[in-house]
Amino acid sequence: MDLIIEKNYEDMSRRAATIIADEIRKKPNLVMALPTGGTPLGTFEELVRMHREKNLDFSSAISFNIDEYVPLKPDNPQSYYYYMNENLYKKTNIKPENTFVPNVLDKDVEKVCREYENNISRCGGLDFILLGIGNDGHIGFNEPDDELFAYTHLANLSESTIKANSRFFSSPDEVPTQAITMGVGTILKAKKIVLIASGENKAAIVNKFLNSSVVTPQLPASFLLLHRNVTVIIDEAAAALHKKTASKTTHYSF
Ligand code: PGA
Repeated sequence: MDLIIEKNYEDMSRRAATIIADEIRKKPNLVMALPTGGTPLGTFEELVRMHREKNLDFSSAISFNIDEYVPLKPDNPQSYYYYMNENLYKKTNIKPENTFVPNVLDKDVEKVCREYENNISRCGGLDFILLGIGNDGHIGFNEPDDELFAYTHLANLSESTIKANSRFFSSPDEVPTQAITMGVGTILKAKKIVLIASGENKAAIVNKFLNSSVVTPQLPASFLLLHRNVTVIIDEAAAALHKKTASKTTHYSF
């Protein structure tokens, strides 16, 4: 696992966007999975800038949402498809037919999850995934639990996640309590993983994650230790606690 500590949010975002842009230039039909939330907004802004100013071409790229709230329609401003459309898709030349989100309106959840996995496979599998990390250590909506789902599934959001995400809603009661999310196995099958985190409120979980040497479903991000191509990009604020304990930490690149 490689760790990059950038000075601030802007630099973290630029670094993540540069990695994604390089991947797209190397493989124009890159199959990527992208997250939502506050952290990736700067990364998407930078990708849009590169599209406008540096001809970064999304015309063959394929994008899968990592997750979607149940049961929000794609045109609901709180849905994650809407978010992706507003922040990236409609500001680039990605083709709408190359953008995927689990169909959370279909009641046959098992079929929807199976189809989502099949769609990823049909596109050749994920080349790249960008992840955030929740304050509780979740990746996607894989919340800490006694066991984790390997593949795309219906997830119940933890109290901590509902509280964290309520900042995007007028009240915590409005936050959906369920989502369809890629599983930890879906994530680990991506060829390259980049995780981004920013700000002092992520310092504790970032420190816990970077110090972890065991894989436990109680810390879903710890499963990233099993992957051979993970880059963690954080800013100074998110790195604050880790820097104090860094001498105790060993990072393995393999
Ligand atoms: P955030 O969410 O970027 O809004 O902090 C991260 C996450 O929950 O994965």
